[in-house]
Amino acid sequence: MANLVIIGMQWGDEGKGKIVDLICPAFDAVARFQGGHNAGHTVKFGDQHFSLHLIPSGILHPEMRCVLGSGMVIAPDAFLSERDGLRAGGIDDRDRLFLSSRATVLLPCHAALDQARERARGDAAIGTTSRGIGPAYESRAGRYGLRLVDLLAPDLEERLDRLVGMVGGHLAAAGGDERLEVAPLLEQCRRWADELAPAICDTEALLAGWLAAGKGLLFEGAQGTLLDRDHGTYPFVTSSNCTTGGAAVGAGVPPTRIDGAVGILKAYSTRVGAGPFVTELHDEAGEFLRSRGNEFGTTTGRPRRCGWLDLVAGRFSQRLNGIDAIALTKLDVLDDLDEIKVCTAYRIDGRETQEFPASLHDLERAEPVYRSLPGWRQGTVGALERRQLPAAAQAYIEFIEGEIGATVDLISTGPRREETIVSTEGPLAALLGDRLEGVLAERSAG
Ligand code: GDP
Ligand code: IMO
Ligand code: MG
Repeated sequence: MANLVIIGMQWGDEGKGKIVDLICPAFDAVARFQGGHNAGHTVKFGDQHFSLHLIPSGILHPEMRCVLGSGMVIAPDAFLSERDGLRAGGIDDRDRLFLSSRATVLLPCHAALDQARERARGDAAIGTTSRGIGPAYESRAGRYGLRLVDLLAPDLEERLDRLVGMVGGHLAAAGGDERLEVAPLLEQCRRWADELAPAICDTEALLAGWLAAGKGLLFEGAQGTLLDRDHGTYPFVTSSNCTTGGAAVGAGVPPTRIDGAVGILKAYSTRVGAGPFVTELHDEAGEFLRSRGNEFGTTTGRPRRCGWLDLVAGRFSQRLNGIDAIALTKLDVLDDLDEIKVCTAYRIDGRETQEFPASLHDLERAEPVYRSLPGWRQGTVGALERRQLPAAAQAYIEFIEGEIGATVDLISTGPRREETIVSTEGPLAALLGDRLEGVLAERSAG
């Protein structure tokens, strides 16, 4: 049974939640490996609508085991309210939701620091989700962070003292005026420890056991490749590794046990927050994509910046992630257009390049070189086979495959499970083997 990782190939919000929900019947467990409640994954089926932030989208399947891996930053209050919200909606997580004892605890003071830093940056703000993600990862890398297992440790108070001292110093330097106090935080941490204790465990050992037993694991990425801390549009990035390489480290499984990667690619581009975006549209076309695609953040409600598909970024993403199969999402959003543009190269100071630049200065000056493709002006929603799509839509998909060098094995034409074309041949079908049947059944069940 193959173990797969799913990641976003752009700036997040590609539709990872929908695709994870659809293909998870082919797996026995789903694990998140990075990020925190900056993520917002939307899943819709029947008359239900869920927004998941910390908990893997697999939780909506009653039998699926779900892991929050060591590479995550977990805010206990956000986790508990998300879990309670799911319980209120009839989703029972008991005995199948596991938190890595090695995951980092994200505390309210991390969020306060994130917000103070953003205020201090003024016009140069990153546009973070203000959840405290960067400062939490910073505490971890600086070796004064708190892990979930430390919530249960006898020296919790000393650890908190050190953490609050460090974060408080950064907060004052950023002009924040909150006073951080250890005593109420200690109380709060003890309450969280009691509530979380039953779910905290050695998830790395759990995953190793499942692997040894031949179970199939799905690793659910959050954010997207161009927000990757090391490879994205630095410094306008998040603070974790959202590329496929992050899955092994962040879940604590050997990279040699991950058999393939599915890249989620939206049929156009969006970005939330600041930072370079070469194909961004400030005109009616951008407005069309935003309203037609309902491009408003799941986590913060912010309008997403919109633009044409950027294949320079797409090829870069393919090179970094080694994508075996692409899931192309939101194709339906393009249904009514006469003309669709795709960026195939950048022009920087009059010179054309196919490479995604490392330099922020170059990215900010890059102009898109577009190829114009005909639109199809016909509905695609609910098509179940690729050959049922209008010829121009098929040509659009083939163009993307040729440029990126990977096949499109899933095509999403709406937010719901049944609005997906699932290829029964090709790399994804080969990786899933017999288990593809489960995915097809899920799609028909809606
Ligand atoms: P994620 O963060 O990658 O999981 O993506 P989000 O859930 O934040 O954003 C994707 C949005 O597009 C959600 O509102 C989905 O319900 C919706 N969506 C997903 N796939 C499709 C699709 O093929 N067509 C349309 N119209 N909406 C989709
Ligand atoms: P999903 O999983 C889109 C962006 C923020 C900001 C930058 C840094 O739903 O695709 P952070 O709070 O992480 O320090 O913010 O990253 N960002 C996302 N954009 N989708 C997300 O998650 C994002 N998570 C963070 O807008 O630009
Ligand atoms: Mg999202």
